Order: sequence, then structure tokens, then C-alpha cells
Amino acid sequence: MAGRPGGGRAVAPRPRSRLLALVGPGLLVAATGVGAGDLATAAFTGNALGVAVLWAVVAGAGIKYVLNEGLARWQLATGETLLEGALTRWRGRLAGPLRVAFLAYFLTWSFLVAAALMSACGAVAHAVWPLTGSADGDKLLYGLAHSAAGVVLVRLGGFRLFERVMGAAAGLMFVTVVATAVRVAPDWGAVAAGLLVPRIPDLPGATGWTVALMGGVGGTLTVLCYGYWIREEGRESPADLGLCRLDLGVGYAMTALFGIAMVVVGSTVEVAGSGAGLVVALADRLEATLGPAGRWTFLAGAWAAVATSLLGVWQSVPYLFADQWRLLRDDLSLLPTAAEEFIRWASPVFHFRRTATRDTELRGVPIKRGDKVVLWYVSANFDEDVFPDPFRFDVTRRPNDHAAFGPGGPHFCLGAWLARLEVRVMLEELLPRIAGMELAGPVRRIRSNFANGFKQMPVRVRLA
Ligand code: HEM
Repeated sequence: MAGRPGGGRAVAPRPRSRLLALVGPGLLVAATGVGAGDLATAAFTGNALGVAVLWAVVAGAGIKYVLNEGLARWQLATGETLLEGALTRWRGRLAGPLRVAFLAYFLTWSFLVAAALMSACGAVAHAVWPLTGSADGDKLLYGLAHSAAGVVLVRLGGFRLFERVMGAAAGLMFVTVVATAVRVAPDWGAVAAGLLVPRIPDLPGATGWTVALMGGVGGTLTVLCYGYWIREEGRESPADLGLCRLDLGVGYAMTALFGIAMVVVGSTVEVAGSGAGLVVALADRLEATLGPAGRWTFLAGAWAAVATSLLGVWQSVPYLFADQWRLLRDDLSLLPTAAEEFIRWASPVFHFRRTATRDTELRGVPIKRGDKVVLWYVSANFDEDVFPDPFRFDVTRRPNDHAAFGPGGPHFCLGAWLARLEVRVMLEELLPRIAGMELAGPVRRIRSNFANGFKQMPVRVRLA
């Protein structure tokens, strides 16, 4: 039942670099996951606690790696994304309302995150190139422009272009911020000690900031998005796990290095503020120590970090909405049409023979009173005059005027409603319990020209 992500309009395939094929999704994790929040938290923590807490950055990236690798393993083993798993496995009475509530929460969350990302892009772009006299006006204009550019890129370029742009921007933010950290010339001995010896300085609020640093390294949403990106790469079997470990390793190593660089930069410069404002203030302070080139280099990296978060979210959040919407729709409405299609397709009763009670004519063929007439329901169910593409099994087929229970005359099947209910309940109860089913041997049918039945049909069932 898993839908495949589209990632925008299809474009002619272009040759891909080998590097992107190997570590593309990992680069997306690094680029989307690191945004204004990470920049600010790392810089602020570096400012408050120095480089003694660098180990927390490495630990945080390690935790996210383990989490993400586990989710990738679940997806490759079950074929389900995290959302499909989380929202479909629970089948209690509250499952439907829970799904609706989650969708409502997700809508609110997306709105707030989108606003924060647009604002961060606007603030950094204004620092790079002020347009109007007003910082707020620039923030709005730049925020809207970034958002529009993101939509165009995702819609027109599809996943491949998105991946290339993100890869290039991840490289830019990584190189510029690490270069800035090297140029501020920290005490390398203290950096090494901070990385290797886990300790929390004895300062007010130090534990809280260290935990915030650890939890803030890399994004949380990206952990969810990774599942859709690997689907875009065609990674669908457990054999692809090695590749996922490789690209996640690269992605989180980059994230950790980026975080370390930001703590180092923050530890050498005195700044105040929060979010993108703090990042811009930091760039201004860097000008004093590294000159205009230092400011520009850092701003370029900061811009790449916030712009890639916006682009990553613009590209990936629609997958999550599509997934939830599909689950909701499947759950509420697909089963009744699916049950009808199963009955049409199976046509359990092939025919009935009736005796004409009076003279009549059917499509030019005269039928006399007392003639025996056979109604072939199975033939009627695959009548191309009634069913478009009748040999396509389509669980959404509507209308589905099949004749499996009779053509609707006085002898119409008395048990039709019970039979429909049975099929529906069987599907409702079976689907959540099984992850897959396949033939495991030869099928033996009953020898009958009246009923479509099976003597034996061995199947292999994969439990959910
Ligand atoms: C998927 C399962 C079933 C299929 C495909 C099926 C199919 C049919 C068909 C094709 C007819 C002849 C209708 C006609 O010629 O107009 C029929 C009649 C009948 N069916 Fe079913 N049936 C099913 C289940 C049941 C069940 C569960 C019951 C009883 C609980 C039942 C009771 C009857 C009866 C009593 C008639 C005769 C009605 C009459 O002659 O007035 N059927 N069924």
C-alpha cells in the first residue's frame, strides 16, 4: 500500500555523479538538518561554556545516526515509512481520530516551521545584501523570495536537481564554517580535550545548555524525511542497508564537524541574541577579528545553512502530508470499493440456469416460454461494455455494477449484504496483521463449472 514519493514533475534523467548516488540522502540529512537553530545554539553554547562541551556535539550526532539508521532498517525490512508504520499498526477505536489529530498538529507545526525558516533566510539575506532601508521589510521580501524559489526548484527540477543544489550548498556551508573556525585560531589543545573528555563545566545553566547542544545537532524532521529520500534513490530492500549506513555516516560526520566548528567560533567571540539574529550578530563580530572577508565567508556559510533547511523542508514535508492524507483516505473509504472489486474479480458463482416464464428476446435472440437460459455472471463481470479496462484489478473502481450476486432481478442473492460484510471484515482484520502474502506452491481449483473455488492454495504470509 505504500505510495511512492514523486518529488516534483518528472524530468529527463541526467547522468548522476557517483558520489551523489552513494551519499546523496546523507548530504540531504546534513544540509536540511543544520539550520539557524543549530547555528545559534552551538554558537551560544560555545560562547557560554567554551570548547569543553564539544564531546556533546559528537554524542548528539551519534545518537541521531543510531536513530536514523534504526528507522532506515525498519523501512527497508517492512517496506513501510515510519508514518505508515506508526499510523496504521494501531487499529483501535481511536486510530481514526488520532490520525486526524496528528494531521492537524502537523499542519500547525509546518506553518510555524515554515514561518521561522522564511524569517531566518530573510534575516541572513538582509545581512548579506540589504535591499530597502528596513530590516523587517527586507526579511519579508527575502523570506518570500526564498520560499518562491524553493517551490519553483522543487516543482520544476524534481528530486535530482534538488539533490544537486543541496549537495553543493552543503559543501559551501561546511567549507566556509569550518574555515572560519580554523581562522579564529582556537586553542587546539582545549579543542582536543573538549572532544575527548566528556565533562560539563561548573557554570550556571551548563547542564541545560549541554543537553540542548546534544539534542539540537542535526534536525529531527530530517530523521523522518530520510525514509522518503531513500525511496527516491530506489533503496527498497534490506540489502541497501550498507549504503544507508555509509551515507548516514557521512551526513552525521558533516553535521558533527559543522557543530564543532560553530561551538569553536562561538567560543572566541562575544555575542548575544537568538536564532538568525544571533548568527548575523556573530558575523558582524567576526569582521573585527577576521576582517570583511571573514564576515562574508561566515555569512555565505550561514546563508547556505538556512537556505538548505528551507529547501529541504519545502521538498520533504509534502511527502509527509501526502503519506498521512493517503493513509487517512485509504482507511476511511477504500475498503468498501476494494471489497466490491474483490467480489467482481473472483466472481465466485459462474452461472445460474433459469427457465423462461414467457416468450421474449435478448439482443435479437428469441427466447421461448419454457426455454432453459444460462446467465454467465462471470462473463458479465468482465464485460468491456460495462467495465473500462475490465481485466485491471482496481480497488478504487467506481461505479462497479458487477453481477456477482445476480443481475438485480427477483432472484438477486439474498445473502449479498452478509457476503459483502464478510469480505470487508476479513480485509479489515487481515490487512493490519500481515505485511505481505505470496503464493508458495501450485494452486488446485475445485472441479466445477458452477462455483469458482479452490481446493488448495498454499501461501507464504509475512506477519506485520
Ligand atoms: C460471495 C458470496 C456469494 C455470491 C457470489 C453469491 C451469488 C449468488 C448468485 C449469483 C445468486 C443468483 C442471483 C440471480 O440469479 O439473480 C444467488 C442467489 C442466492 N443467494 Fe447468494 N451468493 C453469495 C453468498 C450468499 C450467502 C452468504 C447467502 C445466504 C446467507 C446467499 C443466499 C442466496 C439465496 C437464498 C439465493 C437465492 C435467491 C432467490 O432465488 O430468490 N448467498 N447468490
